[in-house]
Order: sequence, then structure tokens, then C-alpha cells
Amino acid sequence: MDGLRRLEYRGYDSSGLALFEPGGIKCFKAVGKIRELEKELTTNSLVGKGGIAHTRWATHGRPSFANAHPHRDCRGEVFLIHNGIIENFQALKNELCVRGHKFTSETDTEVLAHLIEEYYSEDLVRAVIRALRRVIGTFGLAVISAREPQKIVVARRGSPVILGIGNGEIFAASDASALVSHTKQVVYLHDDDVAVLTPSAYEITNLNDPSIQRQAQTLEWDVSAAEKQGFPHFMLKEIHEEPEAVENAMRGRLLEDEGISKFGGLEPVLDCILKMNRLILISCGTSYYAGLLGRYVIEACTDVAVEVDVASESRYRKMNFRPGTVVLAISQSGETADTIAAVREAKRKQALVLGLVNVVGSTLSRETDAGIYNHAGPEIGVASTKAFISQLTILYLLTLLISRHQDMSLSEGRSFLRELQSIPAKIRCILKGADKIERLAKKYSQYKNFLYLGRKFNLPVALEGALKMKEVSYIHAEAYPAGEMKHGPIALIDENFPSVFLAPQDSVYEKVISNIQEIKARRGPVIAVGNEDDRELPRYCDDVLEVPRTEEIFTPLLTVIPLQLFAYYVAREKGCDIDQPRNLAKSVTVE
Ligand code: G6P
Repeated sequence: MDGLRRLEYRGYDSSGLALFEPGGIKCFKAVGKIRELEKELTTNSLVGKGGIAHTRWATHGRPSFANAHPHRDCRGEVFLIHNGIIENFQALKNELCVRGHKFTSETDTEVLAHLIEEYYSEDLVRAVIRALRRVIGTFGLAVISAREPQKIVVARRGSPVILGIGNGEIFAASDASALVSHTKQVVYLHDDDVAVLTPSAYEITNLNDPSIQRQAQTLEWDVSAAEKQGFPHFMLKEIHEEPEAVENAMRGRLLEDEGISKFGGLEPVLDCILKMNRLILISCGTSYYAGLLGRYVIEACTDVAVEVDVASESRYRKMNFRPGTVVLAISQSGETADTIAAVREAKRKQALVLGLVNVVGSTLSRETDAGIYNHAGPEIGVASTKAFISQLTILYLLTLLISRHQDMSLSEGRSFLRELQSIPAKIRCILKGADKIERLAKKYSQYKNFLYLGRKFNLPVALEGALKMKEVSYIHAEAYPAGEMKHGPIALIDENFPSVFLAPQDSVYEKVISNIQEIKARRGPVIAVGNEDDRELPRYCDDVLEVPRTEEIFTPLLTVIPLQLFAYYVAREKGCDIDQPRNLAKSVTVE
């Protein structure tokens, strides 16, 4: 249950557990958060020490008791849990129905239980392998059988599975955070690996190469990094970790005298990176907005042409990976299915593919040709905050690396680094003023809509600010380039529709001020994020969220912080489930 709680951020609409108990397997399920399952368990006395458990993020079939995992075969002998999607489940289900199997859920997963039943005579592993050969789609899977107690068969294709090697006990999970309190010795399964676990041993084979060997590795983070440490929510804790996230992203990567950065993970491909003339950034969600800012920053400082793609859409473009093109996939989790699919496509076309990933050992970190780790520590809140700041920091360092091999002078490089190094202290300053943002959130929490507006470097910040607001508070918030607002969204504006402007004193400040006036002329309330010593801005706005000054290019590292806090406090005011917002999941391992 402790492991399940640590994985709850991955999905939380229903959960379930199946245990080897004296007399057979006992299975419990509940709709809603894991605490609902816990209530079920307290009324039963359980002694079993082996079993499987799951927390669900619905794909096929609404959250319900019947659709919650574990799923079972007709005989109630085989139980399994599954992440991913079985794409050919309807064809398999039709076939199994004809053969007399009775289905009790709407899920794609249940088909696996019946398929294994179909092939199961004596050996569970063989039945699982035969079933998996018929499956199209993705799976992170764990299967048990009442006929073979104290044995768990796990398998992966597309969805992560990690084994934890304990002392006289073996674990499997979809994320290391569920394992660290028990063991730091882990084995990452690769696609098409099937493993058999017993209390004292594990054996791994691969569907394509039965002789495969997998090495155990030691996890480097400890449990406290994945706990709230006195904060009411992970999101608030993680916002407060942002100064360190910037510092950790820079640690060991600055050559201050030379005014340049270095990345150990990029060394083997540095030549190609320095020769590239086109960079394609691919990512989803918050990581996509980091990519958008990356485009502005890299194009401002280098000759590289940058394209940014939402991973789920990149496959619909006829991508041309001509020589000189490099792909960079950005992903906190390293497990986002759309990003992985885009990376595989780029690799198939022989492109050099780099990764910017936070989770060490994740699928993307292994499948990219070379890459950079964020070192931001585990991010548990579903709404990404510190990972975003960390991604931006690394994109600045990457910009510096390329730029210093092009036009940027030594003194410009040094001053670029100095300014970046001043950012953590400035973020700490903003965090000290969080109570003012909390008060403002009280004033604005009753509004039903928000429009976020920004230009140039602060357009991605507007987009990310609006995303944070809708994710955690469920208030409709959309973002637009401030200059584009007059081409449509302004029709929405009245006294009940506030706008949030990104307005630091930079090269587009005057134009942003004009846009603010246009909103005010239509009686729209205006909140602006601006510089703390800007005397002019408060004259045009209802409220100002203040940030310290920095060079224009670095302003996003500061302006996004008040917007994260604003979304957080509005959500808190509304009593929302901030760390696990409805319908969302931290790591989206389905397409
Ligand atoms: C989900 C999360 C977002 C995240 C996105 C991309 O939607 O809720 O917070 O930005 O996935 O995730 P990644 O792990 O690839 O950065």
C-alpha cells in the first residue's frame, strides 16, 4: 500500500490489490483514491506477503469497480494488472467471446487475462509469453496465478517496469519511487522483457532474444526527496525547490573563466551539435512550453533554426531530417508515450536524437543517442513546476554552449553565466513574497475565466501560466500572444473576465502596455507580472505581481514563478485536489 501511495500521482481514479492468501488469491478493488481501497482492507485481516496492486488512469471504460484492476480470467485463477493500451483488444475479445470467455469489464486489459487463461495449461510464464506474442500495443504487466503461489510474472513493452532487488524479497513497479524505501538495487526492464519473480530470485528473458542479460543498478536518490517535508502539497514544496533546481541544473556544467557551459552527456556527439543548422524540439505539456521558450532563446543567440513540435502531432508532419538536423526530446518523466513515439520515428530516419530528461534510467534516457539529465529530483505534483524551471535553465546553458562556438564573445559569455547564476537568489526573493500572491488569489478565485497574454520570451510563460491555472484550479484559462488578442479573444473581455499580462520592462514593454490599455478600455480587470521597481505599470493595472530585474532573455525564469504560485493559491482557495487534479496523470504512458 505504501508503494501504491507513492505511485498514486501516476493515476488515481480507482485502485485494486490481489494477494496470495491461505486458501487462494484474494482481490479487493475500490473506486476513487487509494484511501478508498485502504478502507476496504482494514475490514479484512490479511496475511499474504506476495501480490500485485494497481492505481488506474482510465483509458478504456470509465472509472468503476468493474473496470478497476486487477482483472481476472473466467476461473478466477489468473489475476493481472496492466499499464498501457492493447490496441487489438476488440479483435482478441471477439475471438475469446466465441470461445466462451465471459467478460465483466469494458477495459482493454481484461482481454489479457482471458488470453493467458486460453494458453495456460501448466506454466504461467509460457502462457504469458504466448499471449503477449498476440498483442499489439503497449504494456507494463504483472500477472499472478492461484495455481503457482509466490510467483509473479512481469513484462514490458512501451510502459516502464523496474525490478527492485531486496534481501529475501523482490519488487516490481512502474516507477522507482515505489521501491526506494525498500531497496536501491534495481533492474530496468527493456521492451519485450519478461521476468519471473519469486521471493528470493528473479529471472529475465526477452521475447526476441531469450539469452538476454540485464544488469542491476543502484538508485541514487533517497526517500525524503519524494516526501512533502512539512509543505501542505507537493506542488508548493516543488515551487519552493526551484532555486535549487536552477542550481542543480548548472552544477558542474559551468566553465566560468571561459564563459561557456559543458555537458558530459553530450561530449560524444558535440561535433554534430556544433555543426547543426536546424534543431527540432519535441515534447508535451509543460515540457512543450519549455521547448517554445528554447526556440526564442536559441534563435536569439545562435544561427540555428529551431522548430518546436508537440510530440503527438510531429508524426503527422513529413519530417525531413536532412544532414545538420538534430532532434531534442524534452521530458520530465522520460516515459511520455507520444514523445517516445516521436523519438523512435526520428531515429528510424537516422536523425541524431538527444534527450533532456529528469528521471534517470527512464525509457527516453535510454533510447536517445545522448542527453542531459535535469538533476531536479523527483517531481511528484502532477502539475510540473520545478522541472520546467530546470528545463529552461538547461536550454539556456545549451544556448550558451552553441553560441560561444559561434558569435558570442568571451565577455558576453561570462556575463550570460553571471546573470544566470544570479537567478536562484532572485527566485528566493519572489518566494518570500508568496503571501501577497496568496491574498491576490483570494480576490480572484471566484472568476470563471482568465486570459494570459505575453510577447516574445514571455509568450511561453503566458501559455504555461494558463496551463497551471486550468490544471490545478479547473478554471478556464487560455493564453495568447498579446499582439494577437485583438484578433478575436478581446471579444470575450468584460468586467468578469480578467487578463494576466506578462509585463517586465523589456524590449516589448511599450507594446504590452498598449495591450493592457486596450483591455482596460473594455473594463477587463488586469493583473500584471512586472518589475518590482516599475512605477508606471501599477497605474494601468488592478494588481501587480512583482519580480526582480534581470536581463530580458532570462525574465521567464522569474516571471513564471508568481504564475505558478497564483494558480496554486487559487486552487487552494477553491479546495481543489492540487497534487492530483481530476482527470490528469503525471506520466502519460498512452498515446
Ligand atoms: C503530463 C503531465 C504534465 C507534463 C506532460 C509531459 O500531461 O501532467 O505535467 O508536462 O505530461 O510530461 P513529460 O514527463 O514528458 O515532461
